[in-house]
Amino acid sequence: MSPKSLNTQQTESRCLVRGSINIDEFFHVSRIVTPGETRSSTRYERRAGGKGANQAVAVAKAAGHVSMIASVGRDGDWIVNLLRETGVDVDLISVTDDEPTGRAIIQLTPEGENCILLHRGANFVPHVLPNYPPFTHCLLQNEIPFEDTLATLSHARSTGATTIFNPSPLPSHEELRSFPWRNVDWLIVNEGEARSLIDALKDSPNQPTTTGDETSRGIKDQGMSTLYALHHLPTFSSSVNIVCTLGSEGVITLLTSGESFHVPAAKLDGPVKDTTGAGDCFTGYLVAGLMESASNEDLGVQNAICMAVKAAGICVQKPGAMESIPDRMQVEGNRT
Ligand code: ADP
Ligand code: NA
Repeated sequence: MSPKSLNTQQTESRCLVRGSINIDEFFHVSRIVTPGETRSSTRYERRAGGKGANQAVAVAKAAGHVSMIASVGRDGDWIVNLLRETGVDVDLISVTDDEPTGRAIIQLTPEGENCILLHRGANFVPHVLPNYPPFTHCLLQNEIPFEDTLATLSHARSTGATTIFNPSPLPSHEELRSFPWRNVDWLIVNEGEARSLIDALKDSPNQPTTTGDETSRGIKDQGMSTLYALHHLPTFSSSVNIVCTLGSEGVITLLTSGESFHVPAAKLDGPVKDTTGAGDCFTGYLVAGLMESASNEDLGVQNAICMAVKAAGICVQKPGAMESIPDRMQVEGNRT
C-alpha cells in the first residue's frame, strides 16, 4: 500500500525540501586500494542517497505532502522515478547536462572499514531561482551550495513557513557565525554537531563547551547542558527550538519556551544492522509530525518526536539508508 493511501491525519501542510540527491556506489573490496594500486571489487551495489532525498522520502513515508527542489544529471532518472513512486513531488527536480548526479564512491571491506570519495556533481550546478510551490514547512540540510540554502531559508521566512535546518555536514565556522539563526524555527543536530556548533559560535576559543564535571554525568545530561549552552550564546537566536539526537540514547529537546525533555531510543526487537540514514529517517518523520501538529493541537511536539524515534528504531534494524526508512503503517504498528 502506498503511504498516500493511509490518510492518517492528512492536512493542508506541505513540506519543501531543497537539498541533495546522490548515487551511492558501494565497491566491496578485500582491502582499501592504496595509491598507485589497481584492484577489482568483489561486489558492487548502487543505491539512491543524499540527505535531501533521504529526508524527503522519510516525510513522504510518514504520509506527509512533500515537494523537492534539486538537480540530477542525465544518469539520475531512476532516482527521480524512485522518489516519485514514494510519493515525493518531483516536478521541480531539474536534469542538467553539465554534471553527473552527485556521487559517493564507497570502498567497503569485510571488516567494515570504508573509504569515501564524494563528487558534488549536479547538486552544485547553479540553479535558476525556481518558482517555489506553495508550502507550509521548509526542510534544509547542507549538501547544496550554502547560498542556495540561505536563499531558500530567507524565502521560506518571508512566506511565514515553519523552517527546519539540519546543518549536516556542518558548515564552516565562518558560515555558522554569520548564519541568520533568527530565520530557523527548528534546529536538528546530532551530539557531535551540537558540540561543534558551540565551538564555532562561542565568544572566545578558550571558553569551555559545557560546564561542570563531564565524566561523572550521563550522555543525556551532558547533551542537555550542551543544548542550554548553545541556546544562551549571543550569536544564536533564542527563538530556535533545538532537537539533538544521541544515537542509542535517544533524543533531547530544548524548546524556546524553556521546556526540555528526553525521549529514550526505541527498544529494538533485533540487533542494530545499519545506522546509516537513521538521522535522516528521524528528521523526515519529525517534520511530518510537526506538519500534523500544526493543524491538530492534540498532537504535540513530544508525540512527533516519539513517532520519529520509533521510525529511526526500525531504520537501524535494516541494512541501507533510504530503503530502510519504514512507512507510517509499520511505525504505527510498532508499539514499543
Ligand atoms: P546521526 O546518524 O545523524 O548521527 P544518531 O546516530 O543520533 O543520528 O541517530 C538518530 C536516531 O536514530 C537516534 O536519535 C535514535 O532514535 C535512532 N538510533 C540510532 N542508533 C540507534 C540504536 N543503536 N538503537 C536505537 N535507536 C537508534
Ligand atoms: Na538502516
